Amino acid sequence: MKILSIETSCDETAVCLLEATGDFDADFSYKVLGNALFSQAHLHAQYGGVFPNLAKREHAKNLVPLLEEALRQASALSASAAQSLQGVPLESLQASLAREPELLEKIIPFIESYQKPDIDAIAVTYGPGLEPALWVGINFAKALSYVWNVPLVPVNHMEGHVMMSMVQNGAMRGFEFPVLSLLISGGHTELILSREWMKYERIGETRDDAAGEAFDKVARLMELPYPGGPVISQLAAEARLQGVPLELKFTPPMLNSKDYDFSFSGLKTEVRKVVEAAQPLTDDKKKEIALAFENAVAHVLVHKTIKAVEEFDVHTVVVGGGVSANSFIRSELAAKLAQRDASASLLVPAPEFATDNALMIAIAGYFHALRKDFAQPEAISATGNLRLE
Ligand code: KG4
Ligand code: ZN
Repeated sequence: MKILSIETSCDETAVCLLEATGDFDADFSYKVLGNALFSQAHLHAQYGGVFPNLAKREHAKNLVPLLEEALRQASALSASAAQSLQGVPLESLQASLAREPELLEKIIPFIESYQKPDIDAIAVTYGPGLEPALWVGINFAKALSYVWNVPLVPVNHMEGHVMMSMVQNGAMRGFEFPVLSLLISGGHTELILSREWMKYERIGETRDDAAGEAFDKVARLMELPYPGGPVISQLAAEARLQGVPLELKFTPPMLNSKDYDFSFSGLKTEVRKVVEAAQPLTDDKKKEIALAFENAVAHVLVHKTIKAVEEFDVHTVVVGGGVSANSFIRSELAAKLAQRDASASLLVPAPEFATDNALMIAIAGYFHALRKDFAQPEAISATGNLRLE
């Protein structure tokens, strides 16, 4: 089966063309035929976070060029003999993209120039994320589905992150249920238990800021660029390497709460106080703060994950979402899992697929398409706070 996928939930615009066969437990294999991504992060840097209307505009501008690029990589871009809209009345196309004039302007010449590619379904992220951004991808998917007459598969972005960590090099990685997923991104921090494939039970989540959001806000407090995760973790790594003494310590939030919930906004306030008291901040102070902050975040994430591993007799731990790119969190979790008597394997995504991309949406979309989870275009709407359950 060939799946075209579209991801626009936040500040990455991405399109992927995937070919896959088999089910998760039986000879699943996949090949990435084309994968194109444009990160807008540098454009949002001036705002210190994602600015929804800018994200929407950029998605509308970049989707068609990225689709073209993904199809070109897949050698699936064939010129159309006749300059026609492939039998689609222009008015209907205009109506379907009435809310995306910029996208409409780009899609018409594209459809006129190229033949329908050989695809079986279009997978599109419909949540969670920023609704104005999600809508652009959804409307684009709807228009393509309409023009090419292929079914649509709505995909939950977080399920994409989970599945991205479970595959590698064209195959499914070995894993056993129960699977516990620690999902840590710019918008989410949650622990999800799966006793079966594609079944999700949330056992804990953040009560305020997400882990990635905390990294971004702390970076901003120290006047470091957005996204904060990579910069903070770089500074913390340098501090560790230099053996900066651990005099400064932040309290890992909700460490001893009885549940599996998290909270990061108090930690951010603690950091703010330290930052304010240490003005003007020297580079060494920034490193020291980054180190103490990353230690506190890693500590609570790892502690609650291990606690859930014990309680639910988990056999596989999956880490997904942008913050899973963090090498310190990865290594701390691996070390703590290795200390246990009972073994549980750890699956983390390849670093280049830890942050948002369209391959993860194609993989999740494939498994839903296999189960015929298609939706009528009218039934798909952007759902900013979509839950995984
Ligand atoms: O999954 P993602 O790309 O987008 C969302 O769905 O939110 O995650 C982006 C988040 C940002 O908050 C970014 O600062 C964080 O992931 N991030 C990191 C690292 N790389 C990205 N956080 C900590 N350490 C990193 N190395
Ligand atoms: Zn994400």
